[in-house]
Amino acid sequence: MTGDVATWVREARRIVLLSGAGMSAESGVPTFRDAQTGLWARFRPEELATEDAFRANPQLVWDWYVSRREMIGKVDPNAGHGAVAGFQRRHPGRLTVVTQNVDGLHQRAGSPGVLALHGNIAEDRWLDRPRACCVAGNILAGRPPRCATCGNLRRPAVVWFGEMLPAQVLADAEEAAASCDLMLVVGTSGVVYPAAGLARATPGRVVVLNPHASELDDAAHAVLRGTAAALLPALLQG
Ligand code: OAD
Repeated sequence: MTGDVATWVREARRIVLLSGAGMSAESGVPTFRDAQTGLWARFRPEELATEDAFRANPQLVWDWYVSRREMIGKVDPNAGHGAVAGFQRRHPGRLTVVTQNVDGLHQRAGSPGVLALHGNIAEDRWLDRPRACCVAGNILAGRPPRCATCGNLRRPAVVWFGEMLPAQVLADAEEAAASCDLMLVVGTSGVVYPAAGLARATPGRVVVLNPHASELDDAAHAVLRGTAAALLPALLQG
C-alpha cells in the first residue's frame, strides 16, 4: 500500500497536506484531545477555548494560552514538518499545507503559504470591534492586556469553538482541495468541521496517515498506520 501511495505522490500534479494536532505530537505538543496535564488537568479544552469562557474569566483563559504559547515556544518542528517543507522547496507550487494547528511549526520548518484554518497562537487581536483608541501604542499590560482607554481586551488570534474560520483562508483551502489530485490527511481525528469536510469534498485521492483510527478513514483511498515523523520523510523524499 505504501508503494501505491508513493506512486500517487510522484504522479500528483497538485497535493494538499491537511494536518491536525498529531502532526506536532512528535515535537512534544500534546494533541487536542489528549488529557491535559499539570495545573490545567481539571479543565477540558472545549471549556476554555470559547468566547463565552473568555468573557466569563478572561484571566483564566489568557493564562491557559500563555502556558500553551510557552510550551510551543520550547519545541521544534519534527522530521514530518521538515519533509513537507523540503518537498515544497524541491517542487515549488506542487504542495499546499492546510493546517488546523495554531502552533506555527509548519511555518517554522519553512513551508511557504501555510493556510492556517484555526489561526496562530503567537498572535493576538482585539476581542470587541476596535475603536479609534484601540491601537498598539495604547495597550495596558495585563492578563489579558487591554486598551488603556476603553478597556477592550486582547485575545489570542485563534478560532475558538463556535467561531467562524477566517473567510479568505477557508476559501483558499477549499480551492486547493477542489483542485488537487492527492490529499494527505495527517494526524487529525477528523471530527472538526469545516476542516474535515475538505477531505470529504476533494475530487483527489485521499490518503490518511495516522497511527490510530480516525473519522476520515472511510473517506480514504489508502490508510497508512504510522506517525507523521516516521511516514512523511519516506513518502515525500522524491
Ligand atoms: P485531535 O487531538 O482531535 O486528533 C489528533 C490525531 O492525531 C488523532 O487522530 C491521533 O490518532 C493522531 N496522532 C497522534 N499522534 C500522532 C503522530 N505522531 N502522527 C500522526 N498522527 C498522530 O486533533 P485535531 O484533529 O487536530 O480546533 O483536532 C482538530 C481541531 O479540534 C483542532 O484544531 C482544534 C480542536 O477543536 C480548534 O481549536 C478550533
